[in-house]
Parts: sequence; structure tokens; C-alpha cells
Amino acid sequence: MKIKKLITAVLCITFIAFIGHASAQVKKKAIVKKKAPVAVAKTTPPPPFATAPEIEDGKALVSKSDCLACHKIDSKLVGPAYLAIAEKYPQDQNTVNMLSQKVISGGSGVWGPVPMAPHPVITLAEANKMVKYILTLNSKNTPVVSKLG
Ligand code: HEC
Repeated sequence: MKIKKLITAVLCITFIAFIGHASAQVKKKAIVKKKAPVAVAKTTPPPPFATAPEIEDGKALVSKSDCLACHKIDSKLVGPAYLAIAEKYPQDQNTVNMLSQKVISGGSGVWGPVPMAPHPVITLAEANKMVKYILTLNSKNTPVVSKLG
């Protein structure tokens, strides 16, 4: 009788130990699962300044309009080089709006006394794409553009 009791006791202890171990593993897994979404949210990159289709449209609009009569990509003509404009300004929406207004209304004084002709037929949406194209000519932004393409 004593031996039977002993065996039952040993079996009970083994069983309890096993359950305890298993539940500890379950708890560990639950903790790992909880942390995962936070890590994903942290590594999500910010939205790009300009999308590849916007840049493509902007490039097409610039070559259709009269811009290239006064601007060249890499050297000064009547107006400043587009690369110089891209280096001067940060890539953010406020700058895009400000420069788009200038393309539409024209003006002078930022790069010299020569004025840029106004472009009243260009819409704000079109001017936005043109300016985004110009600002992404900056070599700093080339990786973003090629990632999208
Ligand atoms: C008649 C010549 C001429 C034409 C055409 C022209 N530009 Fe300009 N652009 C200029 C001059 C000159 C400046 C410098 C103005 C200044 O100093 O404020 C300039 C400046 C700019 C700037 C920078 C503005 C600033 O405040 O820094 C942008 C952007 C620009 N042009 C885009 C365009 C686009 C896009 C077109 C075509 C829709 C265009 N330009 C057509 C002459 C021209």
C-alpha cells in the first residue's frame, strides 16, 4: 500500500511540474505576441514626399509648357537651374504650395531682378506636380524616386 501511495505522489508531482512548465511557455509566447505590433509600427517609413506618377506627370508638364525656354536642369539660363532650386528648398508641402503660386503668378527678387513670367493657365494641381518634379531632381532624393520606380 505504501509503495502505491508513493508512486501516486511522484506521478502527481511530475504532472504538476509539467503543467507548470507548459503554462510558463504559453505566457512567454503571449508576451512576444503583444510586443510584435509595436515593433512593426516603429519601422513603418513615412510617406514619400512625392509619388513616382506625380514626378512623371510633373516632368511631362514642364516639357509641354514654356518652362524650358528659361530654365535648364543643371545651368542658369534666364531663370535659375532646376538643380539650384532643388538644393535651395526643403521637400515639404508648404514649399510646394509657395513655389506653385509663384509659377502661376510669376515674380522676381529671389534669384535676381529678372522676373518669371506668370502662368495663369496652369492649375494649382499641375503646378504642384511640376514643382515636385523640380525638387526631386536633387541628388539627396534620388533613392526615394528609384525605390518607387
Ligand atoms: C520668362 C522666363 C521664365 C519662364 C518661361 C519660366 N520661368 Fe521659372 N523663373 C524665371 C526666373 C527669372 C526666375 C527667378 C525669379 C526670382 O528671382 O524670384 C524663376 C524662378 C522659378 C522658380 C523658383 C521660384 C523661387 O521663388 O525660388 C521655379 C520653381 C520656377 N521658376 C519654375 C518654373 C516653371 C515650372 C515654369 C514653367 C511653367 C517656369 N518656371 C517658367 C524665369 C522663367
